[in-house]
Amino acid sequence: MWENKDIKKVLVTAEQIQKRSEELGKEITEDYRKMNSAPLVVALLKGSVPFMSELIKHIDLDCQFDFMDVTSYAGTESTGDIKILKDLDTSVKGLDILIVEDIIDTGRTLDTVAKMLLHKGAKSVKIVTLLNKASRRTVDVKGDYIGFEVENEFVVGFGLDFNQRYRCLPYIGVLKDECYQ
Ligand code: IMP
Ligand code: MG
Repeated sequence: MWENKDIKKVLVTAEQIQKRSEELGKEITEDYRKMNSAPLVVALLKGSVPFMSELIKHIDLDCQFDFMDVTSYAGTESTGDIKILKDLDTSVKGLDILIVEDIIDTGRTLDTVAKMLLHKGAKSVKIVTLLNKASRRTVDVKGDYIGFEVENEFVVGFGLDFNQRYRCLPYIGVLKDECYQ
C-alpha cells in the first residue's frame, strides 16, 4: 500500500473496504430481491463516489443510479438546514431509494435528505454508509447498512476530505496534527 506523508495512521485498509463492500452488496441484493425491487441508488457528492463505485459492482440487481449534492448552510458543523447544489435528474415517485453516504456523523444531513425524498413520493428510503460515527449522533438516523464504525476522530480518504484534499487515498486514515495548522 502506498503511503501519504500526512497520514498518522490507517484505520481501514483498501482491502478491508473491498471485502466489506462485497459483503454489503450481497446483503443489499438479497434484501431487495425479497422486496422484488431494485433501488434507485443515490450517491451524495462528492464523498460517496469511491464507495458507490466499489459497492455497485456487488449489487446484482437492475439498478439505476443518480447523484445529489447538498451542503449545510452554516460553517463546518452540520445544521440540518441544507441547500441543494445539485438535485436528482430522476423523479423518485414510487421508487425504493438507497442513499449511499461516506460517513454518518451528526446524522442531520441524511435525516433531511431522507425526509425530503419521502416527501417527494419515494416508496422507501434506506441508507448505506461506509463509515458510522455513532458517538456524534444528534438526530435519530440509523444506517441500514454500515461498513465500519469509527471513533470520534476526523478521518480522510476514500472520498472523505479535509478542505477538499485526501479524497483520492485508497484507504481511510487520520491526519497528522500538523496538517490542521
Ligand atoms: P452529518 O451527519 O450531517 O453531521 O454530516 C455528515 C457529513 O459531514 C459527511 O457526509 C461528511 O461530508 C462530513 N464529515 C463528517 N465527519 C467527517 C470526517 O471525519 N471526515 C470527513 N468528513 C466528515
Ligand atoms: Mg458528505
